[in-house]
Amino acid sequence: MTEFDTPFTFKRGLQLKNKLVIAPMTTKMSFYDGVITTDELDYYSLRSGEVGAFITAAANVHESGKGWEGELGAYDDRFIPGLAKLAAAIKKNHTKAILQIFHGGRMTDSKVLGGAQIVAPSAVPAERPDAQMPRELSETEILEIIEGFKDATRRAIEAGFDGVEIHGANTYLLQQFFSPHSNRRTDAWGGTLEKRFTFINEVVDGVTSVVDASGVKNFIVGYRFSPEEYEEPGIRLSDTFYLVDQLSNKPLDYLHLSLNDYTRISVSEDYKEKTILAYIHERINGKLPLIGVGNVRTKHDVQNVLTHAELIAVGRSVLIDPHWAQKILDNQENLIRRELSSYDREELKISNGVWGFLQGMMPERLK
Ligand SMILES: Cc1cc2nc3c(=O)[nH]c(=O)nc-3n(C[C@H](O)[C@H](O)[C@H](O)COP(=O)(O)O)c2cc1C
Repeated sequence: MTEFDTPFTFKRGLQLKNKLVIAPMTTKMSFYDGVITTDELDYYSLRSGEVGAFITAAANVHESGKGWEGELGAYDDRFIPGLAKLAAAIKKNHTKAILQIFHGGRMTDSKVLGGAQIVAPSAVPAERPDAQMPRELSETEILEIIEGFKDATRRAIEAGFDGVEIHGANTYLLQQFFSPHSNRRTDAWGGTLEKRFTFINEVVDGVTSVVDASGVKNFIVGYRFSPEEYEEPGIRLSDTFYLVDQLSNKPLDYLHLSLNDYTRISVSEDYKEKTILAYIHERINGKLPLIGVGNVRTKHDVQNVLTHAELIAVGRSVLIDPHWAQKILDNQENLIRRELSSYDREELKISNGVWGFLQGMMPERLK
């Protein structure tokens, strides 16, 4: 069996001291303009130093891509000093720092965008309460957003990060281009499955070319995706197999499957024999390492995920117990704190928004 407490080396040379990764989690702690706060640095610092890598909260690569208040910005050079502080806060005791880069597309609202209309591949609102009507992006704007992903990568390199993760999951812009629900375009950026992959293709090629041209050593690029959608039409697992086939042939360092539970079974009748994680791992067939995630609480979960993945990401367990990873590594599972009620919020250094989310209810004033 693969050991989770032994090192892992990526294609571009970066080595992790163990196979535990902190999953990207929005903190809602940055300033109104996307600059990191000292509270946010404290949140990262408290949890770093134990795991192999720490993937940051999603950082937007373009002003039109801001998804919520308190979001980290990476869309201008003025963010580089703050991003450098973030990379330094994470990089202690050999934990590697990965910046997650994204654009929210239609999953935001005009209030967050300072009054501007939200944008998306097509003028189709998301299927959620109070979703706003997006404006279809022009080709010039699409190319500008691709440049945004490339520039954010350059900033991550300059700020001292060890890599970037392209956020193609959780219904945001990259997924919106791939989805037949949100992408109804009839130009080069939409239509067939192949054409709906065009935007992802350009972003991945753009980001990896920036890394390779920069000459930086050991800087990795990962890609995160969601396996399926519930909308009709929507992405199905068979579409995701196509996505995985394409991405597996790219000069990426890893793929990261976004799941709330690693034991989840597909909604597709054709793929109910094993977990989604198992199907995806089988499809990648060793071409790239896969990060598995979703409700990992115990060492047993860690070992289960590793039967269908090379690395394990952990989110909520590390929010609730900042030293969850060390306790797992030290065989001290009995010391893991699993109840929010055993803390006060400030001890965990998380925002009201995340605290409320963890309790299963958002305080009215933060909605
Ligand atoms: C508070 C919170 C914020 C999150 N923010 C992000 C994010 O910015 N980017 C992302 O890709 N996933 C995000 N996620 C999803 C997690 O990365 C992870 O996939 C999910 O929580 C399941 O893992 P877990 O059960 O270990 O928490 C977030 C999850 C939580 C709980």
